[in-house]
Amino acid sequence: MPKRKPRPQKRRRRSIMAFEMVRLDRTATEPLHEQLYRQIRDELKSGGFSEGSSRLPSSRALATDQGISRSTVRLALSKLHAEGYLCSKPGSGTFVANLLPETFLTAEQPKANQPIQRPVRISDRVRAIPDTRVGNQFDLGATGAGAGISLVASIPAVDEFPIAVWERLRAQVLAKKGVNLLRYSSNRGDVDLRKAIAAYLCDFRAARCHPDQIVIVAGMQQAMLISAMAVLNPGEAAWIEDPCYQQTRRVLGLAGVKIVPKEVDAHGIDIVRSPKEPLPRMIYVTPSHQFPLGVTMSFQRRTDLLDFARAHNAFIFEDDYDAEFRFVGPPLPSLQGIDNASRVIYAGTVSKILCPSLRLGYVVAPEQLVDSFVKIRSAMDQHSSPIEQATLARFITEGFFLSHIKRMRKIYAERRDFFIKQFNELLGDRFTLQVPEAGLNIVAWLKREEDFPIIKRITSEIGVRPSALSFFCIQAKLTPAFVFGFAAWTPTQIRESLVKLASTLRNQGKNLSYGRQSR
Ligand SMILES: Cc1ncc(COP(=O)(O)O)c(C=O)c1O
Repeated sequence: MPKRKPRPQKRRRRSIMAFEMVRLDRTATEPLHEQLYRQIRDELKSGGFSEGSSRLPSSRALATDQGISRSTVRLALSKLHAEGYLCSKPGSGTFVANLLPETFLTAEQPKANQPIQRPVRISDRVRAIPDTRVGNQFDLGATGAGAGISLVASIPAVDEFPIAVWERLRAQVLAKKGVNLLRYSSNRGDVDLRKAIAAYLCDFRAARCHPDQIVIVAGMQQAMLISAMAVLNPGEAAWIEDPCYQQTRRVLGLAGVKIVPKEVDAHGIDIVRSPKEPLPRMIYVTPSHQFPLGVTMSFQRRTDLLDFARAHNAFIFEDDYDAEFRFVGPPLPSLQGIDNASRVIYAGTVSKILCPSLRLGYVVAPEQLVDSFVKIRSAMDQHSSPIEQATLARFITEGFFLSHIKRMRKIYAERRDFFIKQFNELLGDRFTLQVPEAGLNIVAWLKREEDFPIIKRITSEIGVRPSALSFFCIQAKLTPAFVFGFAAWTPTQIRESLVKLASTLRNQGKNLSYGRQSR
């Protein structure tokens, strides 16, 4: 017998509206088709449906769902058609009409769109977050770098992320662990990942910890929030570096902490305390590479800081966000590794090493704090994605993590050298670069302070967008400077951006009226 050709499978289009709220009462005097008509009409009137988004189920499906005959359904639908609630598209199905009859009959706006009459009361907690962004400014991501914007600080080269390897490992862990990765999981984090991170930190950051001290978190911000909530009551003081990573202030603001800004000198955070200053319960520092100035904390300052914390019963929060990218001299041990008094909460993130969208980080907590941290995480959002955690564990244990760091360090070193050379050639007359030993950013100090407004304006206009150093300052009054990122752009892109900035500055500099206006 000749084999029948398999029929091409029709793609079944699913209806978007289910009308699950329809309840027909067979004992009522109102006929079933009337009940169906009325309930569908009311649902259409109350919802924000539009022709583009809302396909109705077929009359057969509706009839089956409701246990009624198709002719009853057809009666109800034809009335809705006739009144303008529905329209048909041949070959596609029945849809909600774009403009429902009510739109024509009443001048009133639907309820959902009514403007709020009274100002909404927002909590003090929201006001305590120092963040002036509004609306779609929140859609640009933490660093505000959209397409075509370059030299933004703190952005890693995510296009170098080994997606294929990650996908392969992800598929492997899913095949091996299956549904176990789909359930709620440990509030501490994946046990294999905690083991892998503990081993990495002991070997490469000279940390002293075991896997039970590690809590996997959703990045550095969550590490800060959990730590602040665990060791500070609202209103108690935390010292932070000034200038400082802007998210630190926002997170501590959210935690209701009193922020005490402390100057940063050539050795790191200044820990001399004036009699007026409250004693800190927590001191936030970036010892490997101060953000944004780039200073590496000296050994003397590290021991002074540890002594201070011990003497005053304070915790030190060590944000080790990009220690892997050190370009001069041997890697420095973490502060956690030289702490003998369990005063350091160490935190790391994969945002710079791998990519920020993974939202994965880790805290090494002093033993007495571990359960409190986990308790907060459990109350907050339980845990990070088990699938990504298991994938990261494999990524580390199979050696990809270290080889990726090595490869990226080489790429970043080349980009950094190229940036410094090109910058000095093209913009050396206006800026002095302060080249740090580590990290993905470089501070450029202005040679003439009066250039600041015009440079600020030009950089935002041409899309070459270093951050003004003042953006990171709380009370610090530093001479004007800009923080440039170099890591996420190829040498060609770096050169193009610097040429654009230098030539625009040259042209605008000639145009004195522009210069005067912008001051
Ligand atoms: C000082 C500092 N810490 C941490 C981070 C990253 O934090 P997260 O892990 O929340 O992405 C950054 C990012 O720029 C940073 O500058």
